[in-house]
Amino acid sequence: MKTVGIIGINGRVGQNVLSELKKIKTPIEIKTFGRNDEVTPLDIGILCTDNPVSRELAPKLKDRVRFLIDMSSEFRMDPQVPLVIPEINPHAITADTHLIASPNCTTTGLVMSLAPLKPFYHFTEVFFCSYQAISGGGKKLIDDFHTPGSYYEKNCVPLIGSLLENGHTSEDLKGLYETRKIMELPDIKVYCHTVRVPVENSHSLGVTLKAAEKFDLEQVKKAWNGFENLKYVDGVITPKEVSGKEDTFICRLRKDVEDEHIIHYFVTFDNLLKGAAMNGRQIAELLLEKFL
Ligand SMILES: NC(=O)c1ccc[n+]([C@@H]2O[C@H](COP(=O)([O-])OP(=O)(O)OC[C@H]3O[C@@H](n4cnc5c(N)ncnc54)[C@H](OP(=O)(O)O)[C@@H]3O)[C@@H](O)[C@H]2O)c1
Repeated sequence: MKTVGIIGINGRVGQNVLSELKKIKTPIEIKTFGRNDEVTPLDIGILCTDNPVSRELAPKLKDRVRFLIDMSSEFRMDPQVPLVIPEINPHAITADTHLIASPNCTTTGLVMSLAPLKPFYHFTEVFFCSYQAISGGGKKLIDDFHTPGSYYEKNCVPLIGSLLENGHTSEDLKGLYETRKIMELPDIKVYCHTVRVPVENSHSLGVTLKAAEKFDLEQVKKAWNGFENLKYVDGVITPKEVSGKEDTFICRLRKDVEDEHIIHYFVTFDNLLKGAAMNGRQIAELLLEKFL
């Protein structure tokens, strides 16, 4: 029986990965490792740790773990490391792959909405503003949020990750660079503004997309509804309603009032599931099916 291990079992993502791995139909043995545990040999290891821990552990696990899936952003932009969403770019993983990165949660919502439209439209620019849930910040932020007087209580905080010298944050730039890599569109312009909101779980994005072609709204909806794990909803759907669900949801599609080459829409999805644990489980399923 193949062994699949979770490293960082006590964190938010680690706990969700455990629930997700239990859904895998192929018989597997699930192993879990906390801060002080020695990782035993594994067919697949899923690192559910922050960047410094992933940076330190990944090289040490090379000889013990056949495939290593990392949830942190540490290796995502390494050209040797595939950055994978199984519905979009499963081909990025080959038999020679060892390390696989799972993308940023907010970027995941964006690219899930872009991928089904790629065969029909040449995107020129995309802008989004995010409304990111507290659970996206891990245990520390969840505890902070539940402490009376928290800065995040009844507030919007336009700073996620670290503030860089150029005025962007590390989270803003993940939206740009990870989108280009996953979509295999190295020149697409992506303008990102990331904001933490007092929503317990599920991230949302308001998106504006520009293409060389005029948009056909019925074709856009049909493409979205024909894509795995994606649904267009007439009316309104909110982060509270999609929490715990596997699909990425889109609503409020409309054309720009002045330019038919531009559409606007709203995306919402469970950041701990499709934005992390479910994507990790899907990568593990792909590895079990194709390479193990
Ligand atoms: N939350 C999201 O929506 C989301 C989405 C996509 C990606 N991610 C990424 O996923 C990773 C985990 O996020 P999270 O939200 O689950 O963070 P978290 O709740 O802070 O969990 C991190 C876990 O790592 C554990 N850990 C630290 N050092 C370790 C070691 N040497 N060996 C094993 N475990 C160790 C910690 O253990 P202790 O419990 O002992 O402190 C903690 O349980 C991060 O890189 C994050 O950026 C998160």
